[in-house]
Amino acid sequence: MSKKSPVSRSGRFAGGPAAEVAQFTESISFDWRLWKHDILGSLAHAAMLKKIGVLTRQELAAITRGLDAIGKEIKAGKFKWKAELEDVHMNIEAELTKRVPAGAKLHTARSRNDQVALDVRLWLREEITGLLGEIADLQRALVLLGEKNADVIIPGYTHMQRAQPVYLAHHLLAYVEMLERDCERLWDCHSRVNVCPLGSGAIAGSTLPLKREMVAKLLGFVNDGGAVQVTQNSMDGVSDRDFMIEFAAAAALLAVHFSRLAEDVILWAGTEFNFIKIADAYTTGSSLMPQKKNPDIAELARGKTGRVVGNLMALLTLLKGLPMTYNRDLQEDKERLFDTADTVRATTRLLAAMLRNTKVNKAACAAAACDPALLATDLADYLVRKGMPFRQAHHVVGAVVALAEKAGKPLNKLTLAELQSVEPVTGTKYFGRDALGVFNLKTAMAKRNITGAPGTKEVAKQLARWRGRLS
Ligand code: ARG
Repeated sequence: MSKKSPVSRSGRFAGGPAAEVAQFTESISFDWRLWKHDILGSLAHAAMLKKIGVLTRQELAAITRGLDAIGKEIKAGKFKWKAELEDVHMNIEAELTKRVPAGAKLHTARSRNDQVALDVRLWLREEITGLLGEIADLQRALVLLGEKNADVIIPGYTHMQRAQPVYLAHHLLAYVEMLERDCERLWDCHSRVNVCPLGSGAIAGSTLPLKREMVAKLLGFVNDGGAVQVTQNSMDGVSDRDFMIEFAAAAALLAVHFSRLAEDVILWAGTEFNFIKIADAYTTGSSLMPQKKNPDIAELARGKTGRVVGNLMALLTLLKGLPMTYNRDLQEDKERLFDTADTVRATTRLLAAMLRNTKVNKAACAAAACDPALLATDLADYLVRKGMPFRQAHHVVGAVVALAEKAGKPLNKLTLAELQSVEPVTGTKYFGRDALGVFNLKTAMAKRNITGAPGTKEVAKQLARWRGRLS
């Protein structure tokens, strides 16, 4: 292929690039998906060109009609993308110019460098808003699962060893908190995405009296306080990809949170835990072992974290040592960006759907949570209430645990005499007849009522708080 490209190469070049060069340098195969934002940017730019007298009213009308028609064809899948036109910007502009002579004026004081910077910002702005909505839905699914099983208690784990009892809802709400911080990070990143670079030109702005604020306002680059946001340095405007890296970083952390949730789900769905049952439609079978029901959504959520973290690394490396200003290297940003956004959005959606189709096995949870060893710390707290220093209480309860192990019975089956047998001989008896009452799980849960604790009242309060916030 050595066709002359009608848009960018006319004049300086004798012919189009060699076929293998065109194939190596094209980006239309992936940046076509910026078409809507490219058209929106062109419409705003054209309106501004009319305002400063570069376009007549009729020319603006013709360009607007032409771009609208092209947009409709793209949407309907009828537009023919041409690889020899390299990218989405040139494909749309070339087609417009073929149909509308005034299209040749559209690129006045604009370069693909500020155009692509604009398009990805517009695209990402929308993606972040969409993703935030989907994360809220996943939070709602977690809250709902907690509410439906409000009375379910499970062991909480540290080092994967049973530690202390918690309400299942408390465990699930830990993820709701993580996801909320992810939302805050994404929204913070959004404020830096939401700045208009158009008018930066190729590198050095323009000698024409562009109305940058007008374009920015038309495209909604306005902050919470209503102030129009435009980039303040043309060189930075065309080469900055910080906003993209920030998004990739926030998304990577989100994916890491997904991987932790996924791991819990995988463990809980396993025969050894048996805490939950995921509905058939949200699991897959084995091609060989007929009995298998695999938690593939959770496994893929965990696995996809690798590519999202990898995309962040790729973007950081892409920017590292890149001289000012635009370099073609930057074309490599888009696939990483698209992949990150697509991956976290799909994962968010599927995790929410999976959780909505998950049932809790209350009997298995109760069997695991009734282990009295989970309340050994409560027994130490009992001694503290009686005036014993905590370090000593910890030691005494340790001896109680050893005694129970030796006697081959659970902690709550020890007698008062056995408890008292390990107390230091000081004259005061710390263990009283009420000591074994510590092992009543229900009262134990009722006692944990400081802010953030997994107590009965506190968890109900947190569930209600999240229910209200997310509705
Ligand atoms: N496809 C290019 C990209 O994604 C658009 C900008 C091209 N600019 C240039 N001077 N060749 O970065």
